[in-house]
Amino acid sequence: MKTYKIASIPGDGIGKEVIPECEKVLNALSKKHPEVAFQFEHFDWGGDYYRKYGIMMPDDGLEPLRSKDAILFGSAGDPKIPDHITLWGLRLKICQGFDQYANVRPTRILPGIETPLRNCKPGQLDWVIVRENSEGEYSGVGGRAHQGHPIEVASDMSIMTRVGVERVQRFAFKLAQSRPRKHLTVITKSNAQRHGMVMWDEIANIVAKDFPDVTWDKELVDAATARMVNRPESLDTIVATNLHADVLSDLAAALAGSLGIAPTANLDPERRYPSMFEPIHGSAFDIMGKGLANPIGTFWSAVMMLDFLGEKALGAKLMAAIEKVTANPKLHTRDLGGTAMMSDVTNAVIEEISK
Ligand code: IPM
Ligand code: MG
Repeated sequence: MKTYKIASIPGDGIGKEVIPECEKVLNALSKKHPEVAFQFEHFDWGGDYYRKYGIMMPDDGLEPLRSKDAILFGSAGDPKIPDHITLWGLRLKICQGFDQYANVRPTRILPGIETPLRNCKPGQLDWVIVRENSEGEYSGVGGRAHQGHPIEVASDMSIMTRVGVERVQRFAFKLAQSRPRKHLTVITKSNAQRHGMVMWDEIANIVAKDFPDVTWDKELVDAATARMVNRPESLDTIVATNLHADVLSDLAAALAGSLGIAPTANLDPERRYPSMFEPIHGSAFDIMGKGLANPIGTFWSAVMMLDFLGEKALGAKLMAAIEKVTANPKLHTRDLGGTAMMSDVTNAVIEEISK
Protein backbone atom coordinates (compact mmCIF):
# COMPACT_ATOMS: atom_id res chain seq x y z
CA MET A 1 0.00 0.00 0.00
CA LYS A 2 1.17 3.51 -0.80
CA THR A 3 0.36 6.24 1.73
CA TYR A 4 0.63 9.84 0.56
CA LYS A 5 1.34 12.49 3.15
CA ILE A 6 -0.74 15.54 2.34
CA ALA A 7 -0.53 18.92 4.06
CA SER A 8 -4.02 20.37 4.21
CA ILE A 9 -4.21 24.16 4.44
CA PRO A 10 -7.82 25.37 4.14
CA GLY A 11 -6.86 29.04 4.67
CA ASP A 12 -9.74 31.50 4.68
CA GLY A 13 -13.38 31.88 3.63
CA ILE A 14 -14.81 29.04 1.55
CA GLY A 15 -11.37 27.42 1.56
CA LYS A 16 -12.39 26.13 4.99
CA GLU A 17 -15.44 24.49 3.43
CA VAL A 18 -14.11 23.01 0.21
CA ILE A 19 -10.90 21.47 1.59
CA PRO A 20 -12.69 19.15 4.08
CA GLU A 21 -15.01 18.11 1.22
CA CYS A 22 -11.98 17.27 -0.89
CA GLU A 23 -10.51 15.17 1.92
CA LYS A 24 -13.78 13.23 2.06
CA VAL A 25 -13.57 12.58 -1.66
CA LEU A 26 -9.94 11.44 -1.51
CA ASN A 27 -10.72 9.16 1.43
CA ALA A 28 -13.62 7.67 -0.51
CA LEU A 29 -11.26 7.06 -3.42
CA SER A 30 -8.88 5.29 -1.08
CA LYS A 31 -11.69 3.21 0.40
CA LYS A 32 -12.52 1.95 -3.07
CA HIS A 33 -8.83 1.51 -3.97
CA PRO A 34 -7.17 0.44 -0.71
CA GLU A 35 -3.78 0.18 -2.39
CA VAL A 36 -3.59 3.97 -1.99
CA ALA A 37 -4.14 5.96 1.22
CA PHE A 38 -3.96 9.63 2.17
CA GLN A 39 -2.67 10.89 5.49
CA PHE A 40 -3.69 14.49 6.06
CA GLU A 41 -1.95 16.88 8.39
CA HIS A 42 -3.91 20.06 9.02
CA PHE A 43 -2.52 23.57 9.30
CA ASP A 44 -4.78 26.33 10.59
CA TRP A 45 -2.91 29.17 8.88
CA GLY A 46 -4.62 32.22 7.38
CA GLY A 47 -6.66 35.20 8.57
CA ASP A 48 -7.67 33.81 12.00
CA TYR A 49 -4.10 32.77 12.69
CA TYR A 50 -3.03 36.32 11.77
CA ARG A 51 -5.50 37.81 14.25
CA LYS A 52 -4.01 35.63 16.99
CA TYR A 53 -0.31 35.80 16.20
CA GLY A 54 0.15 38.73 13.80
CA ILE A 55 1.45 36.47 11.02
CA MET A 56 -0.35 34.35 8.42
CA MET A 57 1.83 31.27 9.08
CA PRO A 58 4.79 30.62 11.39
CA ASP A 59 8.20 31.87 10.26
CA ASP A 60 9.47 28.28 10.10
CA GLY A 61 6.17 27.01 8.65
CA LEU A 62 7.78 25.59 5.53
CA GLU A 63 9.62 22.98 7.65
CA PRO A 64 6.65 20.69 8.46
CA LEU A 65 5.52 20.94 4.82
CA ARG A 66 8.88 19.91 3.37
CA SER A 67 8.45 16.19 4.02
CA LYS A 68 4.94 16.03 2.53
CA ASP A 69 4.12 14.53 -0.86
CA ALA A 70 1.81 17.40 -1.73
CA ILE A 71 -0.03 20.41 -0.33
CA LEU A 72 -3.76 20.93 -0.68
CA PHE A 73 -4.61 24.61 -0.32
CA GLY A 74 -8.00 26.33 -0.04
CA SER A 75 -7.65 30.09 -0.37
CA ALA A 76 -6.08 33.09 1.32
CA GLY A 77 -7.92 36.39 1.65
CA ASP A 78 -9.73 38.16 4.47
CA PRO A 79 -11.91 41.27 4.22
CA LYS A 80 -10.30 42.70 7.40
CA ILE A 81 -6.66 42.15 6.42
CA PRO A 82 -4.99 43.90 3.47
CA ASP A 83 -4.75 41.59 0.45
CA HIS A 84 -1.02 41.99 0.01
CA ILE A 85 -0.48 40.69 3.56
CA THR A 86 -2.66 37.61 3.16
CA LEU A 87 -1.06 36.85 -0.21
CA TRP A 88 2.59 37.38 0.67
CA GLY A 89 2.27 35.93 4.17
CA LEU A 90 0.95 32.55 3.10
CA ARG A 91 0.42 31.54 -0.49
CA LEU A 92 3.39 33.30 -2.03
CA LYS A 93 5.55 32.32 0.92
CA ILE A 94 4.90 28.68 0.07
CA CYS A 95 5.08 29.09 -3.74
CA GLN A 96 8.33 31.03 -3.61
CA GLY A 97 9.79 29.13 -0.64
CA PHE A 98 9.38 25.85 -2.49
CA ASP A 99 10.27 27.34 -5.88
CA GLN A 100 6.98 26.16 -7.41
CA TYR A 101 7.78 27.99 -10.60
CA ALA A 102 5.21 26.44 -12.92
CA ASN A 103 1.61 27.31 -12.23
CA VAL A 104 -0.61 25.14 -14.40
CA ARG A 105 -4.21 26.13 -15.09
CA PRO A 106 -6.26 23.84 -17.31
CA THR A 107 -9.53 25.13 -18.72
CA ARG A 108 -12.20 23.06 -20.41
CA ILE A 109 -15.95 23.34 -20.68
CA LEU A 110 -17.07 20.36 -18.63
CA PRO A 111 -20.18 18.38 -19.63
CA GLY A 112 -23.39 20.17 -18.67
CA ILE A 113 -21.71 23.54 -18.16
CA GLU A 114 -22.74 26.53 -20.24
CA THR A 115 -20.18 28.90 -21.68
CA PRO A 116 -21.02 32.56 -22.30
CA LEU A 117 -19.47 32.09 -25.78
CA ARG A 118 -22.31 31.86 -28.29
CA ASN A 119 -20.65 29.83 -31.00
CA CYS A 120 -18.29 27.64 -29.04
CA LYS A 121 -18.89 23.91 -29.48
CA PRO A 122 -17.82 21.42 -26.83
CA GLY A 123 -14.20 20.53 -27.37
CA GLN A 124 -13.34 23.85 -28.99
CA LEU A 125 -12.17 25.31 -25.72
CA ASP A 126 -9.48 23.09 -24.26
CA TRP A 127 -6.57 25.09 -22.92
CA VAL A 128 -3.79 24.81 -20.40
CA ILE A 129 -2.32 28.09 -19.23
CA VAL A 130 1.20 27.87 -17.80
CA ARG A 131 1.84 30.82 -15.51
CA GLU A 132 5.37 31.80 -14.52
CA ASN A 133 5.08 31.56 -10.75
CA SER A 134 8.34 32.73 -9.21
CA GLU A 135 9.33 36.13 -10.56
CA GLY A 136 8.17 38.72 -13.11
CA GLU A 137 5.62 41.22 -11.85
CA TYR A 138 5.24 39.26 -8.56
CA SER A 139 8.92 39.35 -7.63
CA GLY A 140 8.20 41.69 -4.74
CA VAL A 141 11.02 44.01 -5.71
CA GLY A 142 10.25 47.69 -5.32
CA GLY A 143 9.45 50.09 -2.57
CA ARG A 144 7.83 53.24 -1.30
CA ALA A 145 9.36 56.38 0.07
CA HIS A 146 8.11 59.67 1.51
CA GLN A 147 4.75 58.12 2.34
CA GLY A 148 1.94 60.65 2.62
CA HIS A 149 4.02 63.52 1.28
CA PRO A 150 3.46 65.13 -2.11
CA ILE A 151 6.81 63.73 -3.25
CA GLU A 152 5.75 60.17 -2.40
CA VAL A 153 7.11 57.55 -4.77
CA ALA A 154 6.23 53.88 -5.25
CA SER A 155 7.57 51.22 -7.57
CA ASP A 156 7.04 47.55 -8.38
CA MET A 157 9.75 46.10 -10.51
CA SER A 158 9.17 43.17 -12.83
CA ILE A 159 12.21 40.93 -12.59
CA MET A 160 12.87 38.53 -15.45
CA THR A 161 15.85 36.21 -15.29
CA ARG A 162 17.17 34.05 -18.12
CA VAL A 163 17.00 30.98 -15.88
CA GLY A 164 13.47 31.79 -14.72
CA VAL A 165 12.14 32.44 -18.21
CA GLU A 166 13.85 29.50 -19.83
CA ARG A 167 12.70 26.93 -17.27
CA VAL A 168 9.04 27.88 -17.44
CA GLN A 169 9.05 28.06 -21.23
CA ARG A 170 10.77 24.68 -21.42
CA PHE A 171 8.11 23.28 -19.09
CA ALA A 172 5.38 24.75 -21.32
CA PHE A 173 6.89 23.38 -24.55
CA LYS A 174 7.15 19.95 -22.92
CA LEU A 175 3.54 20.14 -21.75
CA ALA A 176 2.42 21.22 -25.24
CA GLN A 177 4.36 18.29 -26.69
CA SER A 178 2.45 15.88 -24.43
CA ARG A 179 -0.95 17.10 -25.60
CA PRO A 180 -2.60 15.91 -28.82
CA ARG A 181 -2.48 19.29 -30.58
CA LYS A 182 1.22 19.92 -29.82
CA HIS A 183 0.70 23.65 -30.05
CA LEU A 184 2.01 26.42 -27.80
CA THR A 185 1.13 30.10 -27.76
CA VAL A 186 3.71 32.33 -26.11
CA ILE A 187 2.04 35.44 -24.66
CA THR A 188 4.09 38.60 -24.79
CA LYS A 189 3.95 42.38 -24.60
CA SER A 190 7.29 43.12 -26.18
CA ASN A 191 5.83 45.98 -28.22
CA ALA A 192 5.52 48.08 -25.07
CA GLN A 193 7.77 46.43 -22.49
CA ARG A 194 11.02 46.60 -24.33
CA HIS A 195 13.48 44.87 -21.99
CA GLY A 196 12.16 41.88 -20.06
CA MET A 197 9.55 40.92 -22.63
CA VAL A 198 12.01 41.20 -25.50
CA MET A 199 14.30 38.78 -23.66
CA TRP A 200 11.25 36.56 -23.06
CA ASP A 201 10.61 36.44 -26.83
CA GLU A 202 14.26 35.73 -27.64
CA ILE A 203 14.37 32.85 -25.17
CA ALA A 204 11.18 31.36 -26.68
CA ASN A 205 12.90 31.29 -30.08
CA ILE A 206 15.84 29.38 -28.58
CA VAL A 207 13.82 26.90 -26.50
CA ALA A 208 11.51 26.18 -29.46
CA LYS A 209 14.45 24.67 -31.35
CA ASP A 210 14.51 21.78 -28.88
CA PHE A 211 10.87 20.97 -29.67
CA PRO A 212 10.70 20.63 -33.46
CA ASP A 213 7.41 18.69 -33.26
CA VAL A 214 5.63 21.51 -31.41
CA THR A 215 4.10 24.28 -33.50
CA TRP A 216 4.07 27.61 -31.72
CA ASP A 217 3.07 31.21 -32.16
CA LYS A 218 3.39 34.48 -30.30
CA GLU A 219 0.47 36.65 -29.23
CA LEU A 220 0.36 40.02 -27.52
CA VAL A 221 -1.50 39.74 -24.23
CA ASP A 222 -4.18 42.26 -25.18
CA ALA A 223 -4.82 40.57 -28.52
CA ALA A 224 -4.88 37.23 -26.71
CA THR A 225 -8.01 38.25 -24.76
CA ALA A 226 -9.88 38.87 -28.02
CA ARG A 227 -8.57 35.63 -29.51
CA MET A 228 -9.76 33.65 -26.48
CA VAL A 229 -13.27 34.98 -27.05
CA ASN A 230 -13.38 34.93 -30.85
CA ARG A 231 -11.25 31.93 -31.80
CA PRO A 232 -10.97 29.69 -28.73
CA GLU A 233 -10.18 26.67 -30.90
CA SER A 234 -6.99 28.33 -32.17
CA LEU A 235 -5.39 28.01 -28.71
CA ASP A 236 -4.15 24.97 -26.82
CA THR A 237 -1.20 25.34 -24.45
CA ILE A 238 -0.38 28.90 -23.43
CA VAL A 239 2.62 30.28 -21.53
CA ALA A 240 2.69 33.74 -19.99
CA THR A 241 4.34 35.83 -17.31
CA ASN A 242 3.02 35.86 -13.77
CA LEU A 243 0.66 38.84 -14.12
CA HIS A 244 -0.35 38.28 -17.74
CA ALA A 245 -1.35 34.70 -16.93
CA ASP A 246 -3.14 35.81 -13.78
CA VAL A 247 -5.45 37.97 -15.88
CA LEU A 248 -5.85 35.52 -18.75
CA SER A 249 -6.69 32.64 -16.41
CA ASP A 250 -9.65 34.47 -14.86
CA LEU A 251 -10.96 35.17 -18.35
CA ALA A 252 -10.40 31.52 -19.26
CA ALA A 253 -12.29 30.33 -16.18
CA ALA A 254 -15.22 32.64 -16.87
CA LEU A 255 -15.38 31.52 -20.52
CA ALA A 256 -15.48 27.92 -19.35
CA GLY A 257 -18.54 28.64 -17.23
CA SER A 258 -17.44 29.55 -13.70
CA LEU A 259 -14.50 30.44 -11.51
CA GLY A 260 -15.87 27.79 -9.15
CA ILE A 261 -14.72 25.01 -11.44
CA ALA A 262 -11.18 26.07 -12.30
CA PRO A 263 -8.26 24.20 -10.72
CA THR A 264 -4.60 25.04 -10.45
CA ALA A 265 -1.30 23.38 -9.61
CA ASN A 266 1.79 25.17 -8.32
CA LEU A 267 4.50 22.77 -9.41
CA ASP A 268 8.12 22.26 -8.65
CA PRO A 269 8.71 20.17 -11.78
CA GLU A 270 12.06 18.98 -10.41
CA ARG A 271 10.33 17.59 -7.31
CA ARG A 272 12.84 19.06 -4.87
CA TYR A 273 9.91 20.29 -2.77
CA PRO A 274 6.22 19.41 -2.43
CA SER A 275 3.91 20.96 -5.01
CA MET A 276 0.69 22.73 -4.09
CA PHE A 277 -2.81 22.26 -5.49
CA GLU A 278 -5.69 24.71 -5.06
CA PRO A 279 -8.91 25.94 -6.63
CA ILE A 280 -8.55 29.22 -8.50
CA HIS A 281 -11.57 30.93 -6.85
CA GLY A 282 -10.71 33.11 -3.86
CA SER A 283 -12.03 33.03 -0.32
CA ALA A 284 -15.49 34.33 -1.44
CA PHE A 285 -16.44 35.77 1.94
CA ASP A 286 -19.87 36.74 0.64
CA ILE A 287 -20.98 33.11 0.55
CA MET A 288 -18.79 31.58 3.24
CA GLY A 289 -20.27 29.37 5.92
CA LYS A 290 -23.48 28.79 3.97
CA GLY A 291 -22.57 25.56 2.24
CA LEU A 292 -23.05 27.22 -1.15
CA ALA A 293 -19.48 26.95 -2.47
CA ASN A 294 -18.75 24.94 -5.56
CA PRO A 295 -16.26 22.23 -4.56
CA ILE A 296 -15.54 21.17 -8.17
CA GLY A 297 -12.50 23.48 -8.52
CA THR A 298 -10.96 21.78 -5.51
CA PHE A 299 -11.83 18.29 -6.71
CA TRP A 300 -10.30 19.02 -10.13
CA SER A 301 -7.21 20.33 -8.31
CA ALA A 302 -7.07 16.97 -6.52
CA VAL A 303 -7.11 15.29 -9.95
CA MET A 304 -4.04 17.36 -10.85
CA MET A 305 -2.44 16.29 -7.58
CA LEU A 306 -3.09 12.60 -8.25
CA ASP A 307 -1.66 12.95 -11.77
CA PHE A 308 1.46 14.67 -10.45
CA LEU A 309 1.90 11.96 -7.80
CA GLY A 310 1.82 9.40 -10.62
CA GLU A 311 -1.65 8.06 -9.75
CA LYS A 312 -3.00 8.65 -13.25
CA ALA A 313 -5.68 5.96 -13.09
CA LEU A 314 -7.12 7.37 -9.87
CA GLY A 315 -6.94 10.89 -11.31
CA ALA A 316 -8.85 9.76 -14.40
CA LYS A 317 -11.44 8.05 -12.23
CA LEU A 318 -12.03 11.18 -10.15
CA MET A 319 -12.21 13.35 -13.28
CA ALA A 320 -14.80 11.03 -14.81
CA ALA A 321 -16.85 11.28 -11.61
CA ILE A 322 -16.61 15.09 -11.70
CA GLU A 323 -17.79 15.17 -15.31
CA LYS A 324 -20.68 12.82 -14.53
CA VAL A 325 -21.79 15.19 -11.79
CA THR A 326 -21.41 18.46 -13.74
CA ALA A 327 -23.47 16.90 -16.53
CA ASN A 328 -26.46 16.86 -14.18
CA PRO A 329 -27.95 20.39 -13.87
CA LYS A 330 -29.65 19.37 -10.61
CA LEU A 331 -26.17 19.18 -9.12
CA HIS A 332 -25.15 22.68 -10.16
CA THR A 333 -24.28 25.10 -7.36
CA ARG A 334 -25.35 28.74 -7.36
CA ASP A 335 -22.35 30.02 -9.33
CA LEU A 336 -23.60 27.82 -12.20
CA GLY A 337 -27.16 29.06 -11.90
CA GLY A 338 -28.30 26.01 -9.93
CA THR A 339 -29.62 25.42 -6.43
CA ALA A 340 -27.48 22.48 -5.30
CA MET A 341 -25.54 22.76 -2.07
CA MET A 342 -21.84 21.99 -1.81
CA SER A 343 -22.60 18.77 0.09
CA ASP A 344 -24.94 17.56 -2.68
CA VAL A 345 -22.06 17.84 -5.16
CA THR A 346 -19.61 16.10 -2.82
CA ASN A 347 -22.02 13.26 -2.07
CA ALA A 348 -22.71 12.74 -5.78
CA VAL A 349 -18.99 12.61 -6.60
CA ILE A 350 -18.41 10.14 -3.75
CA GLU A 351 -21.27 8.01 -4.99
CA GLU A 352 -19.73 7.95 -8.49
CA ILE A 353 -16.27 6.93 -7.33
CA SER A 354 -17.64 4.30 -4.99
CA LYS A 355 -19.43 2.46 -7.80
C1 IPM B 1 -4.65 33.84 -8.46
C2 IPM B 1 -5.15 34.93 -7.56
C3 IPM B 1 -4.03 35.56 -6.78
C4 IPM B 1 -2.99 36.12 -7.71
C5 IPM B 1 -4.58 36.62 -5.84
C6 IPM B 1 -5.46 36.02 -4.78
C7 IPM B 1 -3.52 37.48 -5.22
O1 IPM B 1 -5.83 35.88 -8.31
O2 IPM B 1 -4.14 32.83 -7.95
O3 IPM B 1 -4.78 33.96 -9.66
O4 IPM B 1 -3.13 37.21 -8.25
O5 IPM B 1 -2.00 35.45 -7.94
MG1 MG C 1 -5.93 35.45 -10.33
